[in-house]
Amino acid sequence: MKRRDFIKKSSLSALTAWVGSSMILNACHTEEDMIGEPNWIVEGSFDRPLIVPSINNGSASLNAQFSVSEILKGKSSTTLSYGNGLLGPTIRANTGDTVGVTLQNSLSEETNIHWHGLILPEDMDGHPKDVASPGGSLNYSLPIIQRAGTYWYHPHPHGSTAKQVFMGLAGMFIVNDPEEASLNLPSGEFEVPIIIQDKHFEGNNLEYSPVDDEIMTGYLGEQILVNGLHAPYLSVASGWYRLRVLNGSTARVYNLALSAGKQMVIIGSDGGLLPSPETVSNIMLGPGERLDILVDFSDLSVGNEIYLVSNKFSEFNVQGRQSFNLMKFKVDRTSSSNFTLPSSLSTVAVLSPAQSVKTRILDIAQMIGGEGGHGGMGRHSINGKIFEMDRVDETVSAGTTEIWEFDNSAGDEIHPMHIHGVQFQILERVGGRNKIIASEKGWKDTILLMPGEKVKVIMTFPDYTGVFVFHCHNLEHEDDGMMLNYKIV
Ligand code: C2O
Ligand code: CU
Repeated sequence: MKRRDFIKKSSLSALTAWVGSSMILNACHTEEDMIGEPNWIVEGSFDRPLIVPSINNGSASLNAQFSVSEILKGKSSTTLSYGNGLLGPTIRANTGDTVGVTLQNSLSEETNIHWHGLILPEDMDGHPKDVASPGGSLNYSLPIIQRAGTYWYHPHPHGSTAKQVFMGLAGMFIVNDPEEASLNLPSGEFEVPIIIQDKHFEGNNLEYSPVDDEIMTGYLGEQILVNGLHAPYLSVASGWYRLRVLNGSTARVYNLALSAGKQMVIIGSDGGLLPSPETVSNIMLGPGERLDILVDFSDLSVGNEIYLVSNKFSEFNVQGRQSFNLMKFKVDRTSSSNFTLPSSLSTVAVLSPAQSVKTRILDIAQMIGGEGGHGGMGRHSINGKIFEMDRVDETVSAGTTEIWEFDNSAGDEIHPMHIHGVQFQILERVGGRNKIIASEKGWKDTILLMPGEKVKVIMTFPDYTGVFVFHCHNLEHEDDGMMLNYKIV
């Protein structure tokens, strides 16, 4: 079924109920919306300066509300926001701090916040059962007990996570510590957050209305935003920059690279710095994952321009069949920085399989209930189960180490798997890409499984007892029920 038919048949009332009457619903789609065809990317003119979200040092007050933003040049769109426009402030804290955040819910539906990658007590984690009603509020008190890293925050109400994130509710959460500070990495204007999200528009407005096929593949947009703006540019000096990259898309995977074959230095991923820098010419980044990248623009002269691009990575999937530009860097001045890349970055204590007390196999390739769900295609599951709020699916012991094997070897979809409440290390990937990539050599909380892949991760559970979730971070899959509870006892 084409999306426009679906919109006419069933989603009009649901959409207008939550976003008001400004949503434009009658725009047409082309044949490219048919099953199996990519939503081809539409590039912009790269002539608006990148917006850097405001920085909130320590405690914050967030109001989830309706807003408007000029995401596409010259067009005003209705959004959801934690502030103005799209996205929330970047919250910054140091290891050892306790950060207080109040969330006011000014939406017409439930919401909450999950602090993606932070290790927190059960009642602070943003489990889908802990939500604020419309008009209500939540108070979070976040003890920061972990190392420096690029984390993020977003809503987690079951069934509406994807829509709320898509409409603009998300932000970065940066933790700093002395180990990181001792490296004197590029900072201030030379440290830039890069939040990448794809969006689908109808007319001027953002539209979130996945049909059955799009719940299968994930909802893919045609416009790629960086920090809430379509096709921006950043003026840079001809020296080193630190880019903290977050894939905040609901379902799109990027194969990031710089144009003209320029290399990038990966220094960190989800859970902070890698042991040592990894120089790459391209790197895959799935929904929910982060990268800490150093780029040296010193070989470019003033006036040169290069692009952050996503390279083609698939011949047959509904995504990855196209290379496209995300943003432009314009070198407009020389640099006076004298940063030199250190040969080692941080100490990462390696977890050994010998420490593991149990291996759990998690089958993520199965669809269940084929008759009932999504035009006979079934629903996304983990081990044949779909999410139930009050059912505990796995029980682990605080302080013990386990191996979890996510198995997508029989699957033909892309699943970025995320575990709340813990950081893990990758032991192996079998099938598909058949290797551990550069960004997977440190701590991770989200791991990308392409079709045919099976990945083993190892982790030690913290002493925070209680119920946490793990799920696919393709947010359409998550909302479809590809999420289970695990309990730390
Ligand atoms: Cu970023 Cu449970 O998610
Ligand atoms: Cu999935």
